[in-house]
Amino acid sequence: MSKIIIAIDGYSSCGKSTTAKGVAAQLGYAYIDTGAMYRAVSLYFHHHFVTLTNPKEVHKALSEVHISFQYNRMLNKSETYLNGLCVEDEIRKMYISDRVSEVSAIVEVRRAMVAQQQRMGRHRGLVMDGRDIGTMVFADAELKIFMTADPIIRAQRRQQELLEKGELIDLETVLANLQKRDHIDTTRSEGPLRQADDAVLLDNSHMTVEEQVELVTNLADQRISQVVRNGR
Ligand code: DC
Repeated sequence: MSKIIIAIDGYSSCGKSTTAKGVAAQLGYAYIDTGAMYRAVSLYFHHHFVTLTNPKEVHKALSEVHISFQYNRMLNKSETYLNGLCVEDEIRKMYISDRVSEVSAIVEVRRAMVAQQQRMGRHRGLVMDGRDIGTMVFADAELKIFMTADPIIRAQRRQQELLEKGELIDLETVLANLQKRDHIDTTRSEGPLRQADDAVLLDNSHMTVEEQVELVTNLADQRISQVVRNGR
């Protein structure tokens, strides 16, 4: 059967990964969370006191960073590994969210991550979420979704997620972090967040996860049929 690439981009905390995971499960595709890769780099840079404005330090540190994903059968989810160590929980913490946009705006960091992401998708059959997937990483993706949601709703969802992991952060702080990240992500020079011309806009402020997964899966089925009929 013909396999496609589904690129899901959008603002921070608007449910991209939840939707992407659901769609990947429905189609039997792999799922790659590219935000986790930038978070893992940020974690490494933080622990190794890398000066973000020093290209030599950044270059050396990047050569020491090896990111992979491993499926955890017990938890039924894929987890992020940094140099062989599971960092899935650590990279979701607030101190990493506070730093990740600055780290991911560094051109050399982006080039290294984009190259790895392109290798991961060379056999297609993949759902990838991030900020520049439909515009840079896979500009030829057969299906592109651009997700957005009301900022207050996004902040509430993110606050709940952090709470479930034991971090109690007030709504204003969470909202400020989202707005700061949105600003850096949309205004950086390399791979800024923007809707690709051929992306489908999905505002999920008032949608359930099931509705989002169904909608994207239906679009994917249509695209797969088109590819089968007409080629890519
Ligand atoms: O999806 P997330 O919130 O976990 O992503 C964390 C940060 O990583 C986000 O603020 C911007 C950056 N990012 C990026 O620049 N490009 C991507 N493809 C994915 C994430």
